[in-house]
Amino acid sequence: MARQNPSTFLKNLYKIITARPKVPPSLENNQLLNTILDRRSIRHFSGREIPDDIFNAILEAGRVAPSTVNLQTWAFATFTDQTWKELFDQFIPFNGKRAVIVLGDTHRGKKVMDFFPHRPLVEYTLAVINASLAAMNMNIAAEALGVASIMLSETGRSGFLDPMYLKEKLSLPDGVFPLMSLVLGYPKSGYRAMPPKLPIDQICFPGKYKEAELGILKDWFSQMFTGYKAEHPFSSFDAQLELYRSKIDQAEKGLQAMVFYKTNGNVKANG
Ligand SMILES: Cc1cc2nc3c(=O)[nH]c(=O)nc-3n(C[C@H](O)[C@H](O)[C@H](O)COP(=O)(O)O)c2cc1C
Repeated sequence: MARQNPSTFLKNLYKIITARPKVPPSLENNQLLNTILDRRSIRHFSGREIPDDIFNAILEAGRVAPSTVNLQTWAFATFTDQTWKELFDQFIPFNGKRAVIVLGDTHRGKKVMDFFPHRPLVEYTLAVINASLAAMNMNIAAEALGVASIMLSETGRSGFLDPMYLKEKLSLPDGVFPLMSLVLGYPKSGYRAMPPKLPIDQICFPGKYKEAELGILKDWFSQMFTGYKAEHPFSSFDAQLELYRSKIDQAEKGLQAMVFYKTNGNVKANG
């Protein structure tokens, strides 16, 4: 989608600005629910430091997250803005004050138990599921403590799209792979409008799978385009998609090498 006519742009902008999460009036004052509903990915952080006790509480929320058979197939590489700069020779994206690189980790558990021998795709999948839940626990804990955040998979080479780069930078052993960075900080200004979310009846269905309606999908995508343009007037949505596409081959190769790594000369996937 190269450009949008001004009336569509304005209509979409109105829809974005007026959209609100929908909850029954009886639940409107539930604090935890509101923390979840009001969360946004934040891309501008202030210079205010995050105290150690707050950061440690966020990490603790990750530590106690649920996981398959309680295997805790995750690891967290933690950073201050200084340690990030020392390692990556750049600032934490968006002026974040702390960051956690969330890793899937099927390496640690194997020291005591080979839980799914020679089944790297299963191991990888459960590590992705579990580590992502831990990341979300940290994200919500941060929100509850007044700290804003964003998860990153590409920006600043901080996630799964740059697996080999991060493997080298973080000295990751086989079986440990990067998923995303959780960048944390106090927001520089208020939270922006909610980015366009699909309507509940397009993602929920009672039982059997229901195809989404094409018209609604197109409307959502058109709003996505408007939202991007409104936030980045001098950059193009298509160029951003192209940037992701340009990294995908390299990410695919890197991930394949990390997931189907060799042990004793044998590809583990082949047993
Ligand atoms: C795993 C993951 C990776 C993401 N990677 C990036 C990224 O590299 N750069 C970025 O600007 N936003 C990134 N985001 C943020 C999404 O763009 C954001 O969650 C989405 O637009 C919805 O906005 P919201 O979080 O405010 O609801 C990522 C989000 C997730 C969950």
